[in-house]
Amino acid sequence: VAVPDAAGPPPTPWVVAHRGASAYAPENTVPAFALAAEQHATFVEFDLQRTKDGALVILHDTTLERTTDVEEVFPERGRQVVVKGEARRQWPLVDFTLAEVRRLDAGKWFDPKFAGTRLPTFGETIAAVRGKIGLFIELKSPELYPGIEAAMLAELKTAGLDRPWADPRTPVLLQSFTVSSLQILTRELRTPLPVHLLFGPADASRWTNDQGLAEARTFATGLSPDKQVLRTDPTLAARARSRGMLVTPYTFRASAPGTYADVGTEMREAIAQGADGVITDNPDKAPHSP
Ligand code: G3P
Ligand code: CA
Repeated sequence: VAVPDAAGPPPTPWVVAHRGASAYAPENTVPAFALAAEQHATFVEFDLQRTKDGALVILHDTTLERTTDVEEVFPERGRQVVVKGEARRQWPLVDFTLAEVRRLDAGKWFDPKFAGTRLPTFGETIAAVRGKIGLFIELKSPELYPGIEAAMLAELKTAGLDRPWADPRTPVLLQSFTVSSLQILTRELRTPLPVHLLFGPADASRWTNDQGLAEARTFATGLSPDKQVLRTDPTLAARARSRGMLVTPYTFRASAPGTYADVGTEMREAIAQGADGVITDNPDKAPHSP
């Protein structure tokens, strides 16, 4: 990560490796985070959730079956659900203890060469990347995990990372789609860390007009909109900046293996349009700060 001259945010444009360098390694695992650092990303983005016994772990979906071998290891623990009229089984993270989750393989679904990769805890993630890259932490579905905001801040405090840019080589930023969680962070817990509001096209009309930006500024220091929102609203970045807010759109990814040239162009266009950074599966294709 580029080191700022004084204690302050890293130079922009930020390259935020989405779930790690997830185009090349299994998402939300230590190998994907390490690769993001090797590819000189500014931050690694990951999704924080909680096990049944209260451990903070890194996982995108609220269930385990897409990115682990839970179906083989705990076949009897699947819950019968109906999704879009179709009966299927799911293995929610909240049903599993940390010891159980640690038995799962979180790498081989992506590529057999990553077999043996474990689903990481928050603490392990911090230890693995500290000094190499920043943390862009998403509170994923925090409504399922009451108290997760305070638990996360406590772990950051233990690591000495609960103040903005406390470690210039490991800057920390928090984000969520869940407004109430951001309000807990900034209003109740009064975190001084930067906080970004995530939102997609469906919520663009709420947050991108001047009134919405003013409201967002009461609990967030920046925005992480879907990249389509920025593309269809060319003045958004400048209007956000005038309120002191940074804009880091998501998610830039190559549409298919072997066609990475386009994603680089797309990211350069977003930065030319005023984005302060890009959240991408392909950090190696991003335009880096000098
Ligand atoms: O950081 C933005 C992005 O991670 C939000 O979407 O679903 O990949 O967590 P998702
Ligand atoms: Ca995320």
